[in-house]
Amino acid sequence: MTKQNHKQALTDPLFKKVTEAAKELNVECYVIGGFVRDYLLKGGRPKDIDIVVVGSGIALAKKIASKLPGKPKVSSFKNFGTAMIRTDHIELEFVGARKESYHRDSRKPVVEDGTLEDDQKRRDFTINALALSLNEANYGDLLDPFEGVIDLKRELIRTPLEPDITYSDDPLRMMRAIRFATQLGFRIDPKSLDAISRNKERIQIISKERIVEELHKIMASTKPSVGFSLLHKTELLPFILPELVALQGIEEIEGQRHKDNFWHTLEVVDNICETTDDLWLRWAALLHDIGKAPTKKFHKKIGWTFHGHEFVGSKMVYKLFKRLKMPLNDKMKFVQKMVLMSSRPIVLAEDYATDSAVRRLVFDAGDYVDDLMTLCEADITTKNPKKQRKYKNNFKMVRQKIKEVEDRDHIRNFQPPVTGEEIMKTFDLKPSKEIGIIKDTIKEAILEGEIPNEYKAAKKLMIQKGKELGLKIRS
Ligand code: CTP
Repeated sequence: MTKQNHKQALTDPLFKKVTEAAKELNVECYVIGGFVRDYLLKGGRPKDIDIVVVGSGIALAKKIASKLPGKPKVSSFKNFGTAMIRTDHIELEFVGARKESYHRDSRKPVVEDGTLEDDQKRRDFTINALALSLNEANYGDLLDPFEGVIDLKRELIRTPLEPDITYSDDPLRMMRAIRFATQLGFRIDPKSLDAISRNKERIQIISKERIVEELHKIMASTKPSVGFSLLHKTELLPFILPELVALQGIEEIEGQRHKDNFWHTLEVVDNICETTDDLWLRWAALLHDIGKAPTKKFHKKIGWTFHGHEFVGSKMVYKLFKRLKMPLNDKMKFVQKMVLMSSRPIVLAEDYATDSAVRRLVFDAGDYVDDLMTLCEADITTKNPKKQRKYKNNFKMVRQKIKEVEDRDHIRNFQPPVTGEEIMKTFDLKPSKEIGIIKDTIKEAILEGEIPNEYKAAKKLMIQKGKELGLKIRS
């Protein structure tokens, strides 16, 4: 193959500094990994640059930093022989070229110094093992001993070594293979795919945080179903999200079938990705039906039911987040709320949506009502064009009604027009259950549309209800 040169990828003045410093230390160095891959793919601007040094990565990083304006700090990790410099526009990561072998039960490698090719061999995929020279003599030359460029053209994820070795060395790479296939729209080499299935149990030595990082990247891609189908096919999914696996399958009793909720869920996720980039709303789509597995029942008269699956599902969200060491914060609460309310707009869209039903929806969903509508619209996966049109139309009407009700009644983030304090003053009350009863009566009347969401009407009702409860107005 003819030698390729990509000098034009290395025009950032930073690279010149790297070359200078490497020359002074008499070491070779190369840009490797994502930077080269993404450059050859689309000329994209990377956020970090990995540099491999045939020698000490830490020494080279220090030398470069001393030449840069402002002399940026070098963060070094002696145990791994790596170093990092953060400049105003990019992060440079340095690592010494190495031959590695790993202990079976951990990701901690035993490291020995090696040549560039030794280092390329120990990388995850041929497309990530591509290197560009930063050395004066052959600046910009592409070093591609494993046909990474051909794999970029073939759109193929393939390991430089026997896949069993590559994946066993670092089982996170099984997730990375699937993530890259999803992000880039590439195929995974069949030999690699088999090796992933064979090594699937090794995923258990990987920290939850790193697994979730890959899941997030799959979720952030245009078509996450690609990744989840691969996780399913390779049988990694039961180790990661068994709740989803439990949704798979169609049961039939007395000729009655329910849909396969796993494949349905993946469709919903792909649908929602067309309308939102919000990672957590995408997660809500992924988890919106997880309560269906534990609540599934067959009844002779009505067929399959999943009663209360939204409530059960929202409780499962907490356990799932906890298990995967995901944040148990407002993001989780948001996902829980979406799952809990995930059937509400659908019920409205199936039937005629009354004003009071819409007001209740806005009241319960608060600021999340738009996200909830987005989720429920993505949930329409019927292949029947007539039904599809009908649901879409109904959703449009519900959205319109939400707007009308909002403009008129200001139900979102509802604040009671009469406060507890005013109720206490009016009837000369100490804190007591009567206050709650009156407040509830007013809220219900507003939601039902019996009175407008206004002070005057609410005060009148307060007095009327107080009298009914036998309370006396303070004179
Ligand atoms: N790498 C590897 N095995 C891993 C992680 C990383 O061999 N488990 C190597 C690959 O050569 C990769 C490089 O280290 O290209 C840098 O890793 P990373 O920054 O995680 O990935 P990128 O390829 O830069 O891609 P992205 O930023 O999209 O994750």
